[in-house]
Amino acid sequence: MKAIVLKREGDQIKGLITADIPIPVISDNDVLIKVNAIDINPVDNKTLHGNGQFDNVKNDEIIILGWDVSGVISEVGKDVVRFKAGDAVFGLLNFPGHGKTYAQYVAADPAQLAIKPANVDDETAAATTMSALMAYQAIREARIKPGERVLIQGVAGGVGFFALQIAKQLGAYVIGTAAGKHEEFLRENGLDEMINFQTADFELATSNIDFIFDTLGGKSVIKGFNILNPNGRLITIPSGQGEEWKELAKEHGVNAQFLFVHSSGEDMQALAALLEQGIIKPNIAHRFKFDDIADIHERMSTGKISGKIVVSFN
Ligand SMILES: NC(=O)c1ccc[n+]([C@@H]2O[C@H](COP(=O)([O-])OP(=O)(O)OC[C@H]3O[C@@H](n4cnc5c(N)ncnc54)[C@H](OP(=O)(O)O)[C@@H]3O)[C@@H](O)[C@H]2O)c1
Repeated sequence: MKAIVLKREGDQIKGLITADIPIPVISDNDVLIKVNAIDINPVDNKTLHGNGQFDNVKNDEIIILGWDVSGVISEVGKDVVRFKAGDAVFGLLNFPGHGKTYAQYVAADPAQLAIKPANVDDETAAATTMSALMAYQAIREARIKPGERVLIQGVAGGVGFFALQIAKQLGAYVIGTAAGKHEEFLRENGLDEMINFQTADFELATSNIDFIFDTLGGKSVIKGFNILNPNGRLITIPSGQGEEWKELAKEHGVNAQFLFVHSSGEDMQALAALLEQGIIKPNIAHRFKFDDIADIHERMSTGKISGKIVVSFN
């Protein structure tokens, strides 16, 4: 099968190459998925540059990036009861860990998959995996109550846009920061108040926030403490932010935490139901083909593309 493999020379990472490698042999408890579409997240590019999940994959002989997948089960291990060959499935594979979805076939743990709704295409499903799970798991952790004032930092992004839709479904009043060009689209999709980060300082533009969902990190977290209500909550998700913000959170008396997304078939099933009913959808910014993957990373590394990126294999 064709796969996009991370090329290494000693400790040095030398980019991505297309390789012809054997189709994975599955264990009795796994399924084999023929991949139709994948999604590329910032963590894929961070891992390519030695950060992100690199420590979790670096000791494997062949490193294949990618965690998000939509495809069809082509083979089931003899102990698998939940799925059968021919089932259309989607999910976030082995996160944290080694996902290996930049390939025509990938082995998967059935406990990390959900059946893809029939009214949802592969690109949409692939785009509703890591970022949707991240938003779903964070909003669940925040225990949002109807009417609460929620600020989403980076609301037009892959994760932020799912968080908007899930928070609105729970009855929150949602304020979001994004570039001005996204305002109309975001308002059409339920955003109550928009702060254009290019022209306004969110710290001055809003106040009395019950929950901040932060997808930006750094100053966005530190300044966020100044606009949270007493006993407010904050969840931040970019890694590598150090420890200082945790001390500041204590000083402000707010409940702030870093949250890591994890693979979960149960949560994917909940997302499948929301997708099927049209309650959530991804904000797909870019659509590519399999042969474009190395180029996509080049463009991510130079800041030329951001937002949700899907890759179709057909
Ligand atoms: N902890 C975890 O498990 C976990 C899981 C998923 C993601 N993450 C991390 O979360 C972060 C966001 O991921 P993502 O997939 O949502 O990325 P993304 O799709 O690239 O979205 C980022 C968004 O933030 C916007 N933005 C940039 N600067 C901003 C500012 N000052 N104010 C408001 N918005 C701003 C970008 O706008 P433009 O497009 O205009 O630049 C973009 O829409 C990444 O660092 C990712 O690695 C962590």
